[in-house]
Amino acid sequence: MHFNRKDLLGINELDVSEIEYLLDLSRSFKEINERSIKKVPTLRGKTIIHLFYEPSTRTRTSFDIAAKRLSADTYSITASTSSIVKGETVLDTLKNLEAMKPDVFVIRHSASGAPWMLAGRTTASVINAGDGMHEHPSQALLDMLTILDNKKSLRGLNVLIVGDIYHSRVARSNIWGLTKMGANVVVCGPATLIPPNIDSMGAQVSHRLDQCIPEADVIMVLRLQKERQQQMLLPSLREYSAWYGMNGERLKRAKKDVLIMHPGPINRGVEISPEVADGPCSVILDQVTNGVAVRMALLFVLGQR
Ligand code: CP
Repeated sequence: MHFNRKDLLGINELDVSEIEYLLDLSRSFKEINERSIKKVPTLRGKTIIHLFYEPSTRTRTSFDIAAKRLSADTYSITASTSSIVKGETVLDTLKNLEAMKPDVFVIRHSASGAPWMLAGRTTASVINAGDGMHEHPSQALLDMLTILDNKKSLRGLNVLIVGDIYHSRVARSNIWGLTKMGANVVVCGPATLIPPNIDSMGAQVSHRLDQCIPEADVIMVLRLQKERQQQMLLPSLREYSAWYGMNGERLKRAKKDVLIMHPGPINRGVEISPEVADGPCSVILDQVTNGVAVRMALLFVLGQR
């Protein structure tokens, strides 16, 4: 199976064989990241531009490390230090950068759909590094890879996604990806943070975290996205934490081999307690490590077109 797309925009548009191909390829790149010399010449002479309109630590750094480990040349554009602050539109920015002949754009934007619009206006490949409240495909791939490092299969696995589902592109990409791969996905959070159409995406809905925990093989805790909340959707952070925070007491009621995941950044003491985030069930830093391998795989397939 080959990946014949020009762009990687969302998990929703991928079929199972494409997801399996990208996960297999990511596994093969993990070995390079364990070497003392972590570099291969695969993308020598290729140019990759990271165009980030929103802050990022993990995604941006791991795409940059991934590109450099494949020997590509990389350039980073941050909204706050570019001509974007002078009022240049995203399309003008793209067209001007395209004039410098890059091979791949890695784009994060606050507007849902922006990478699709831009992909249709450039001959370079576009990778969606997170668009608004819509998709974060490389995050879902690294999450699936991390689960498969610890569990035999995604098929039949009970995955509980807890927290701010409404604002989460990570939740949407994971629901689409995990259900395609045969997992049972339950989303849990206060009604104000669950989008009304979520069951049409294949996820079950619960508002009672304590009832969901004993059944879960994987508990994916999401960050409370204070920056995307336009109105008061919660009575208080203390109350949110009491009802939906993943803490040591709740973990005692989980399966012994449960995996605790979080895409980061973490609000410690809000959606997850430090003892859970740093405890033996946590694979949060493994997710970050796998992010490099997944992004190497994506740049490999798209950068060689
Ligand atoms: N998980 C994730 O997207 O983290 P960053 O916002 O730091 O890239």
